[in-house]
Amino acid sequence: MPRTLFGKLVVVLLALLLATSVFYVALTVTATRLHIQEVTQNLHRDLAADLLKDRPLMTDGKADSGALKKVFEMLMVVNPSIELYLIDPQGQLLAFSAAPGKVKREKVSLAPIQAFLTEGRKLPIRGDDPRDLNQRKIFSVAPVMEAGQVSGYLYVVLGGEIYDSINRTLEASWITRISAGLAIASLLLVTVIGILSIKLLTRRLKRLTGQLEAFKRTDPEGVDGTEGDVGAGGGQALDEIDELALTFEAMSARIDDQIGELERSDSMRRELITNISHDLRTPLASLQGAIETLQIKDQSLSAADKNRYLELAHSHCQRLGRLITDLFDLATLESHDRELHFEPFSLAELVQDVAQKFQPLAARNGLTLKLDIRLNTSLVSADIALIERVLTNLADNAIKYTPAGGTVEMGVARADERIIASVADTGQGIPARELSRVFDRPYRVEKNRGDGTEGAGLGLAIAQRILRLHGGHLDVKSTLGAGSAFSFGLDAV
Ligand SMILES: Nc1ncnc2c1ncn2[C@@H]1O[C@H](COP(=O)(O)OP(=O)(O)O)[C@@H](O)[C@H]1O
Ligand SMILES: [Mg+2]
Repeated sequence: MPRTLFGKLVVVLLALLLATSVFYVALTVTATRLHIQEVTQNLHRDLAADLLKDRPLMTDGKADSGALKKVFEMLMVVNPSIELYLIDPQGQLLAFSAAPGKVKREKVSLAPIQAFLTEGRKLPIRGDDPRDLNQRKIFSVAPVMEAGQVSGYLYVVLGGEIYDSINRTLEASWITRISAGLAIASLLLVTVIGILSIKLLTRRLKRLTGQLEAFKRTDPEGVDGTEGDVGAGGGQALDEIDELALTFEAMSARIDDQIGELERSDSMRRELITNISHDLRTPLASLQGAIETLQIKDQSLSAADKNRYLELAHSHCQRLGRLITDLFDLATLESHDRELHFEPFSLAELVQDVAQKFQPLAARNGLTLKLDIRLNTSLVSADIALIERVLTNLADNAIKYTPAGGTVEMGVARADERIIASVADTGQGIPARELSRVFDRPYRVEKNRGDGTEGAGLGLAIAQRILRLHGGHLDVKSTLGAGSAFSFGLDAV
């Protein structure tokens, strides 16, 4: 079977035309044969009766061999294809005009003979051919009468040659020839017109398939995996309709995906707005409180108090500013608006740079900032600006939450295929029950809320988000009063 729909339709059309032609040819041949048999039998209807006229072929129920011989000889001259049989009233053969070896039957059926003798029966009627056990042929028959009684029948088989003559007639007839020629010509015409129409009709389908194919090529993840599902069955060649079904399925899957994606990002945005307004409310309320106190108690406050409230308002303002920046950063990271720029760089060098940047702050806080780099190369592929942000947030926390005299150590090490960066301190540590919550936004350990250490509670949330975007995560180990250690790994290149 051809692969394309066009090919399949053409094959079906040709098969149908062929079947119809064979049927009509068979029908025509049978009808013509019947017609010729009818005409021949009609023409020879009275042949047997005529032969019997004035010729008593039987005497006392026995064949009169002398009379018979004469008739046989006469017929042999007139028409050798006609065969004569004398039969008794039960159909038993009594005598015939042929060599004994040629006759295969001893008895012929009486039913067709009775039918023939009945007035008004439609011809052709075919009776048993004594020379062939399977054949039936047209005939003429007349009863042999003796003293008003049927003593037998003269059964005249109208010759095998008649069959040949039918074919010859058919072949010779110019009507048959012309109609055969016309039939072949019209068949060819129908075939050509059929093929052209199929081509015309499938062309649009083909064009549509082509367009969908082009669409499919623009959709790399699209169709894969769905191919086996469609009715065509595994491994079978696909025609245009199968292709259409496949592409349609891929398209609807893609639309479903996109709608799902849109819904997800929509709900994410909504959640973000809710979170942000919640995050901003607390510092805003503090700011508002400071300003209101200043307004209401303006007269009763000393200059020093006024100054204190102003400073408080200012610090809340600053905190609000930082919070807004951090929130904005986190929002862009969460909504995938920030594209990652992967590039290979040395993580050890980056850690060194960050440590250097924090050196003055550590010194001011009375801390020792140490570096522990334990490998030669530490190339990773990541977004360098974002990883720097992670290290900055971690170093900032370590310095902020470690009392004077403590140590902060930044390190880089290799573990299998990953490069691990770590920031450890000997600071206050994080209570175990709060350990899992420090990555939430905005979360600050209870002790640090309002203790003077500045922070919006978003630094670790941002760091965790950045590492998730890189396919990793931030790890934390902490012992209350002894220190904390944050670490993360990136794939080595
Ligand atoms: N190195 C650390 N030592 C002790 N506590 C820490 C450390 N790093 C973070 N934390 C706790 O986790 C909380 C969340 O940290 P973070 O998200 O960076 O917010 P922020 O630093 O703004 O408070 C901090 O408020 C602090 O209580
Ligand atoms: Mg922080």
